[in-house]
Amino acid sequence: MKSARWGLVALAALLAAPTAIAQGNAEAGRVKANTCMGCHGIPKYNNAYPTYRVPKLGGQPTAYIEAALKAYSNGERPHSTMHAQAASLTEQDIADIAAFLATAPAHK
Ligand code: HEC
Repeated sequence: MKSARWGLVALAALLAAPTAIAQGNAEAGRVKANTCMGCHGIPKYNNAYPTYRVPKLGGQPTAYIEAALKAYSNGERPHSTMHAQAASLTEQDIADIAAFLATAPAHK
């Protein structure tokens, strides 16, 4: 019965494998976006210190956030700070953070 047992192990591994398309989890994203909020500080979208405007992220569509983060990550969109931020994120992090930001209130 050894082969049947290995079949089960293989099936379990398959089920545990991450899906190809990352599904965003807003609750996980809320925690992961903590660092981001230091700069993209809701509610007024001003960096805490020094004070400068940063783009509004709350309420933006997930596709918009994901595209921006991937563009920073691969250098398509040049910005040293955001490149460092985006490059440290996994696909799953990006999906989670985008899901959270899309549900965050869009302040002005
Ligand atoms: C040190 C400050 C800082 C931190 C921390 C930071 N950002 Fe940014 N972010 C900026 C600035 C400044 C810009 C504008 C860059 C530009 O002009 O392209 C920006 C731009 C963006 C944009 C593009 C928005 C648009 O409308 O084009 C997204 C999306 C974004 N950040 C997401 C994030 C996420 C997610 C995190 C956390 C993982 C994060 N940022 C952390 C400062 C920061």
